Amino acid sequence: MPVPSSRAPRDARSDWWRSAVIYQLYIRSFADGDGDGVGDIAGIRLRMGHLADLGVDAVWINPWYPSPMADAGYDVSDYRAIEGQFGTLADAEALIAEAHTHGLRVILDIVPNHTSDRHPWFVDASAAGPGASERDRYLFRRGRGADGELPPNDWQSNFGGPAWTRLIEPDGNPGEWYLHLFAPEQPDLNWEHVDVRADFLQTLRFWFDRGVDGFRIDVAHSLIKEPGLPDIDGREYPPARVEVDGELVRPPWQSHPHWDRDEVHDVYREWRAVADSYDPPRIFVAEAWVDEPERLTRYVRSDELHTAFNFDYLQTPWIAEDMRKTIVHTLDEHEAVAAPATWVLSNHDVARHVSRYARDQSDGLTRQLQHLLGRPADLALGTHRARAALLLTLALPGGAYVYQGEELGLPEVEDIPEDALQDPTWLRSGGSERGRDGCRVPLPWSGETPPYGFSQGSHAQPWLPQPPDWSPLTVAAQAGDPESMLELYRAALRHRRQLAALGEGVLRWRDDLPDTVVAFDREPGFTCVVNFGPEDVTLPAGTVILASGHVAADGQLAADSSVWIAR
Ligand code: GLC
Repeated sequence: MPVPSSRAPRDARSDWWRSAVIYQLYIRSFADGDGDGVGDIAGIRLRMGHLADLGVDAVWINPWYPSPMADAGYDVSDYRAIEGQFGTLADAEALIAEAHTHGLRVILDIVPNHTSDRHPWFVDASAAGPGASERDRYLFRRGRGADGELPPNDWQSNFGGPAWTRLIEPDGNPGEWYLHLFAPEQPDLNWEHVDVRADFLQTLRFWFDRGVDGFRIDVAHSLIKEPGLPDIDGREYPPARVEVDGELVRPPWQSHPHWDRDEVHDVYREWRAVADSYDPPRIFVAEAWVDEPERLTRYVRSDELHTAFNFDYLQTPWIAEDMRKTIVHTLDEHEAVAAPATWVLSNHDVARHVSRYARDQSDGLTRQLQHLLGRPADLALGTHRARAALLLTLALPGGAYVYQGEELGLPEVEDIPEDALQDPTWLRSGGSERGRDGCRVPLPWSGETPPYGFSQGSHAQPWLPQPPDWSPLTVAAQAGDPESMLELYRAALRHRRQLAALGEGVLRWRDDLPDTVVAFDREPGFTCVVNFGPEDVTLPAGTVILASGHVAADGQLAADSSVWIAR
């Protein structure tokens, strides 16, 4: 094992999270240290140098707990242990310590909305029979219909099909139904139950005591359900846009029986108190797919969570006017609660942004692969725009996320053979949605053919097949090539650390450039210009620090390019 050099965190301030760049490490696909085709802790430790060289402040590791893997680890059967495929608790502790010596903080993923159906609580609840108190920790109900043969309400699972499954009771007969907003193997917990609340506080402490710096909270907006579990009755979430004065706008906010209920905030106030009781205080980031920035920023009020992913930004098409609106709205809403914004382009649930930006942006593309399929793609253009988007993202006030592989410019893999697809979305939708596997393909590290250095010392097939044409995208192929995506990420992150103007703070919009350009100043002496095209634009005066695309000698910035300027 290499001996790490000892370094202080890149940013030793206790409010480091207000401007941190956090690398999302999807453990199954990062690096495979034991050669079984699945990424693991040993792999992360072997490749820690990549993270340190990249220059991020922290890593967020997707769930690494014991799990039957019905949803790639988001079905947890023990929150205070490590999945055997990934390593041991001792390996996890060594990794945390090692990351810290590299100046990297470690954020884990906590899944409070549901457990695995193999979690001891659910096993006990199933065995205990109808009416038993063991069932109170979940949401068991009698079905509708004469014999209870219909689901208790009309809620739908996020992965397709009803959000209810009927249990075969210990006596062998069909009995009660249980709620699962995701797969049937992910029963929803009852957050009104005192055991549930207490147990999660203990889990937080368990990992905080082991030096973990914070948690990403999975579906943070779904924990609380409306009493009585009423039908949704066709109410969409998010609700469809309505036309006002020729423009599509969000309809007025309406409460929903299971998304973003106001009572969920009490849970996070309790969690915040635990995080604040540590020295240094630990932090949280919320995954909350809520419809409005105003609803999102409720999660980051000063006595609740620290930050939340900005999915509005991720879903904004590559169009100057749309981008400007999203940024303005985001900053205004965050300022109102004195919380820093975050900027996210990709994650393990959405089609990679190189492939999203490769499509015609006026089509109102959504984040899912299914909506991209069949639409012409220009990956060179998508890559060009992704480069420009990076400089925009890292110049905005607040923190940012980098999803593993975006630093290599990986596209979505849109043609994984059907028999290799693993995402429950594929099966639960009856094969109509390919799901999220295309952004989860194992990383290419080196070499000409799969597994491209992903698996150490073996020829094991990676758990998802890698494309045959990824050799130019490996870390080894890109390192040292000044034109590569990897070197752009490294340079941008290096400059971001050195430039006093970047990170938290304010921006001032520039109005001396065409409408197809997003341009702003930050102080001291920094300007970011993003040309959404299609014409070249003349740059304002100053020295170019970094450019994502071509800047001509006479100061013209090419289409779909961005630049950082020292004024
Ligand atoms: C979150 C995760 C996603 C998972 C779901 C259910 O949205 O990011 O991967 O499937 O929650 O836990």
